[in-house]
Amino acid sequence: MTSATVLAAIAAVVILTTAVATAQDHAALVEDGRAAFTRIGCSNCHTVHGIGTAIAPDLSKVGTKHDSAYLERWLRDPREVHPSGHMPALELTEADIRALAAFLAAQH
Ligand code: HEC
Repeated sequence: MTSATVLAAIAAVVILTTAVATAQDHAALVEDGRAAFTRIGCSNCHTVHGIGTAIAPDLSKVGTKHDSAYLERWLRDPREVHPSGHMPALELTEADIRALAAFLAAQH
């Protein structure tokens, strides 16, 4: 093998390892969001695939409507996104916001 081939092989391994790690991180974030959804009480108003109380819109397909960036903005301050809406602003940590947005964006 030439050194260029060795370097290319190393680069490929690094890229693949990073991709796998990123996918695992994302899956963990989605699971954190799933847990936060009931822990924080989103499920007192919303349902996701039959879990929760349906007094607010069902979120089972919210990921087909909104991406995680929009969802993060929504969770920081729902009234800023939809001034006439009726969802209260909740005291959420940045970690919970990121996890909840990843979880909701994955709902299709
Ligand atoms: C007190 C009830 C209540 C709680 C608790 C609540 N929501 Fe909501 N949520 C609503 C209502 C009502 C709406 C509809 C807002 C509107 O009028 O547009 C809404 C809308 C949303 C939307 C927008 C849906 C869409 O189709 O655009 C998302 C996303 C959402 N809520 C996520 C959450 C998450 C995540 C939590 C927990 C951190 C949460 N909500 C907690 C009542 C609630």
